Amino acid sequence: MNIPLSKPDITEREIEAVVEVMRSEVLSIGPKVEAFEQAVAKIAGRQHAVGVSSGTSGLHLCMIAAGIGPGDEVITTPFSFVASANCILFVNATPKFVDIDARTLNIDLDQVEAAIGPRTKAIVAVETFGHPGGMIELEQIAQKNELVLIEDCCEGFGGQASKRPIGSFGRAGVFGFYPNKQITTGEGGMIVTDDERFADHCRSLRNQGRSGMSWLAHQRLGYNYRLTEIASAIGIVQCERIDEILAQRRRVAALYVERLMLNKYVILPTLGEDDHCSWFVFVVRLNDLFEPGDRDEVIRELRLNQIGTNNYFPPIHLQPYMRDALGHQPGDFPICEYVSERTLALPFFNTMTPAMVDHVVATLNACCEKVLTKRKSR
Ligand SMILES: Cc1ncc(COP(=O)(O)O)c(C=O)c1O
Repeated sequence: MNIPLSKPDITEREIEAVVEVMRSEVLSIGPKVEAFEQAVAKIAGRQHAVGVSSGTSGLHLCMIAAGIGPGDEVITTPFSFVASANCILFVNATPKFVDIDARTLNIDLDQVEAAIGPRTKAIVAVETFGHPGGMIELEQIAQKNELVLIEDCCEGFGGQASKRPIGSFGRAGVFGFYPNKQITTGEGGMIVTDDERFADHCRSLRNQGRSGMSWLAHQRLGYNYRLTEIASAIGIVQCERIDEILAQRRRVAALYVERLMLNKYVILPTLGEDDHCSWFVFVVRLNDLFEPGDRDEVIRELRLNQIGTNNYFPPIHLQPYMRDALGHQPGDFPICEYVSERTLALPFFNTMTPAMVDHVVATLNACCEKVLTKRKSR
């Protein structure tokens, strides 16, 4: 059985919606983007949404619209996809990494306040793997210290933290719709906010700095970060199907939890009482039977057995260009590094059957056993 790491959930409805746009002759800047924006704003509990070409471009625009620039520091997590820190570098500001909480895998709340200094202007907070833990507290910390909170919720679409929708925290949130995400538009992203001026600013920035005047009048330095009508048409249908999509993901996560709860090799993600995870990926952590290096062996063995897996995530601060830019060394964020060398993502997609999950778990167990036996015999 060949089981991929992820797979988009596209039905005939999405396909028909794309065909309809293709026949309409309006392929960009049309009614589908607006309708998709409204659908996402509703799910995120926000007044405004601005469709953009990717989660990364959305984060970039949020940094600009929040007025972050050279000399500013922005607090963020080292345990994420690189875009959550790259957006800070895009505006020539400095990422100030704070270590993570081993339970939520999100930024460690106890360390955030200590990291705030005179140059700190903002926090980019991530719901890692869709885990919503800590958002309400981060919002309070940001308010108390007059910092802009940007929620990088690229991995959390449809989830809730403290009974509030993911995307509703801080000045603005950014979703990403790459094909491995809860909903996809192929490529795409969305900024959500309650701040009308912030939304207007982002709308202008995504459209070459135009501001509603003539097509060739440019108010400010802008970008082409527009989202197409075709992508938006897919997104509208995905939003209409969101309850069904999230239910499927909860079902698959529950299958894994049931089968791995008493597993002797891996530690499962833990959720707080008020948190409703919107499952992005299913990431497990190898326990202390394993040593550094073993995880990569387990990944190799799983792949040899045609099980899709990956090392989500290598620490951002140790990526070569980040080390060059910021001078970080191994040991700077020990929890992140410890977790990072032990985590692996298992296959996770809406149409996974119980038999597929059984096969993944049986293969994972066999691979873990093999790696441990091999090491002991060395
Ligand atoms: C936490 C996080 N931030 C940002 C992004 C960037 O999104 P995109 O790939 O749409 O640019 C991703 C996507 O993988 C992500 O997981």
